[in-house]
Amino acid sequence: MTTNRTYTMIKPDAVAEGHTGAIIKLIEEAGFRVVAIKKVHLTPAQAGQFYAVHQERPFYNDLCKYMSSGPIVPMILEKDNAVADFRTLIGATNPAQAAEGTIRKLFAKSIESNAIHGSDSDENAKIEGDFFFAGIEQF
Ligand code: RTP
Ligand code: MG
Repeated sequence: MTTNRTYTMIKPDAVAEGHTGAIIKLIEEAGFRVVAIKKVHLTPAQAGQFYAVHQERPFYNDLCKYMSSGPIVPMILEKDNAVADFRTLIGATNPAQAAEGTIRKLFAKSIESNAIHGSDSDENAKIEGDFFFAGIEQF
């Protein structure tokens, strides 16, 4: 399945520090269109459900705690080659290894508190987008 959509969320650290607007500006300037957006505060159980794919990883409990520590801003984005181009725009998971100019290089604090999520495949973009926006119109 190939689509031109990806799923992202601005994570609690970046939202709390007031970087939501600056990050959305970079996303739009890179040619992505925001087709769905909201602000939510996940419970630890909801964060655990979203990241169930990582439940065997050593960082899973910390990740669920972090992702439920404050509001996040989930979005569905549209662009040609959206999944791959968005991963390039956000940079490496660990900001110490992220390229200059990437969103994580600019705003992430650590490998965990890394400011933003980006889906890693078209299949996961659909699953993750539906997690937050199933049944909600996308423009
Ligand atoms: P994401 O899914 O959020 O876009 O990040 P990613 O693909 O670059 O990294 P992934 O391996 O999917 O990890 C998901 C999130 O878990 C946290 N993490 N912490 N403490 C650690 O070693 C560690 N490793 C990953 C990060 O918040 C990462 O984005
Ligand atoms: Mg990932």
